[in-house]
Amino acid sequence: MSDAFAKSDRLTGKVAIVTGAGSRSEGVGNGKATAVLFARAGASVLLVDNAIEHAEETRSIIDAEGGVASSFEADVTSEEQSKAIIDTAVERYGRLDVLDNNVGISLRERVTEIDMDTWDHVMATNLKSVAMTSRFAIPRMIETGGGSIINISSIAGIVSVGDAAYMASKAGVIGLTRAMAADHGRDGIRVNCIAPGLVYTPMVEGRLDADQRERRKNSSPLGTEGTAWDVGWAAVFFASDESRWVSGTVLPVDAGLTIAGRHAYPEWGV
Ligand SMILES: NC(=O)c1ccc[n+]([C@@H]2O[C@H](COP(=O)([O-])OP(=O)(O)OC[C@H]3O[C@@H](n4cnc5c(N)ncnc54)[C@H](O)[C@@H]3O)[C@@H](O)[C@H]2O)c1
Repeated sequence: MSDAFAKSDRLTGKVAIVTGAGSRSEGVGNGKATAVLFARAGASVLLVDNAIEHAEETRSIIDAEGGVASSFEADVTSEEQSKAIIDTAVERYGRLDVLDNNVGISLRERVTEIDMDTWDHVMATNLKSVAMTSRFAIPRMIETGGGSIINISSIAGIVSVGDAAYMASKAGVIGLTRAMAADHGRDGIRVNCIAPGLVYTPMVEGRLDADQRERRKNSSPLGTEGTAWDVGWAAVFFASDESRWVSGTVLPVDAGLTIAGRHAYPEWGV
């Protein structure tokens, strides 16, 4: 586990939920990195995952570092379980300040290929889940003067990467972020969105060979490989009071890929 950054008190006193706080396989995904960084910054973290052993792995890392976290098994596609997630955070830690909606799945199918039950499942997992956890979180955040909701979209919500349902759901996350930010600003609720680029995580490692990984790395202006820690640091900013005047934004964490144009596609010529 990377320990390149020291602990801080940027989130001291805050209670945070991270959904999908484990990683689907060995290695560090966005949810795991975010949960570890939240704990290092002083937050108490509820680690939500539908595979409890994934959340427990993250908890063991936070425990070993002396942080505060506990696991909770729940499926964010269930409205009942979404409510239980929010209730559990408040029961265990007394309040709710931060909700990081990280769960997301991708399939890489075109609209002509995907069957509609699968389409519904992607939408429920990536988009409806954000609405469900948020609708239960917002009233609890209001009780203590407000909070921060962080939604994990993707550059797939901004530019085409193929994968029709994923792109539609991630664009939907951006729209929902803006709707909630506008509707609940006067409640002291900030809502922001992170759009990770081609970060190298367990979510993608199984489908990339070494050559594809290298080309992916070189595709952005910075030409370096992103990790889940890069996404996690953006989440720490949105969770902290450092971003107290920031709401409704979409932050690409993508080494400049979405603004690259000709750089990413040299065959365009001058
Ligand atoms: N890796 C990338 O290149 C990349 C790029 C852009 C965006 N993202 C986004 O990052 C987020 C995921 O990142 P990650 O690395 O943490 O993913 P991951 O695939 O490692 O999944 C994290 C955890 O989510 C859990 N999970 C899956 N479905 C769930 C459900 N219905 N309810 C509760 N838990 C569930 C899994 O068990 C897993 O432990 C997604 O929203 C994804 O779209 C990733």
